Amino acid sequence: MSDEGAIDTRGMVKTYGTGDSAVRALRGVDLSARFGEMVALVGPSGCGKTTFISILAGLLSRDGGSLRLAGVDPDTLDNRERTLWRRENVGFIFQQFNLVPQISVVENVAIPLLLRGMRRTEAIERSMALLERVGLKGRERNRPTALSGGQQQRVAIARSLVHGPRILVCDEPTSALDGATGQRVMELVREQGCRPDRLVVLVTHDERIFHFADRIVHMDDGLVTRVADAKSEVAALRAAVAAERPA
Ligand SMILES: Nc1ncnc2c1ncn2[C@@H]1O[C@H](COP(=O)(O)OP(=O)(O)O)[C@@H](O)[C@H]1O
Ligand SMILES: [Mg+2]
Repeated sequence: MSDEGAIDTRGMVKTYGTGDSAVRALRGVDLSARFGEMVALVGPSGCGKTTFISILAGLLSRDGGSLRLAGVDPDTLDNRERTLWRRENVGFIFQQFNLVPQISVVENVAIPLLLRGMRRTEAIERSMALLERVGLKGRERNRPTALSGGQQQRVAIARSLVHGPRILVCDEPTSALDGATGQRVMELVREQGCRPDRLVVLVTHDERIFHFADRIVHMDDGLVTRVADAKSEVAALRAAVAAERPA
């Protein structure tokens, strides 16, 4: 792990709407993370997880608090600079797969490479290789709509990894996948996303993938309430399951 801070945020606040209908989605989030690690964000529905990672991904602006991502505060960049910075540094997998229906699976995966000016043949070749890794060999020329939900999710995952982003944010990346496929996809995310100069922030309810993370960050009602070492958290979960089972 590198000493350079990947994420450093203090007192991050975000409110949607105003007046009586205002929703305080983030009420002062503090979090630090290093390159080389994977942090899993967990917490009840509505506690602010998606809001938080959308701000990390540069898709949403915060209302207050400090933020540095790899030393950069995205809010100090103008729109054009922020778009370029995001394209270069950030990958995201969201709950909606956001695949482009009019083009093939492999072209969808190649989008981040083509946007960065890579030659088409090279971009397609690299995308083909990654599709094979997520178990979609043979489906490259299909339209995304011809694929199942789980297959579309894997296309979205391949697209988010193809350009080797330094910061990868994932919102429930295994929600549409069966257990075995989820494990395989997480192995790939871990391998590609957790190199010494990269970071993965993962939102998940799926306890079966907690062991891929280094730390578990618990959120509740717009705040980080606890940060735990993933190994001890997984051990505690297993002990709790074992205790419930009749001897
Ligand atoms: N675009 C929006 N407009 C208004 N309220 C929103 C919007 N997005 C999220 N919220 C509200 O902000 C809170 C946090 O939402 P979210 O970040 O999606 O939580 P989580 O991902 O943990 O379920 C919730 O109360 C949610 O209803
Ligand atoms: Mg969410």
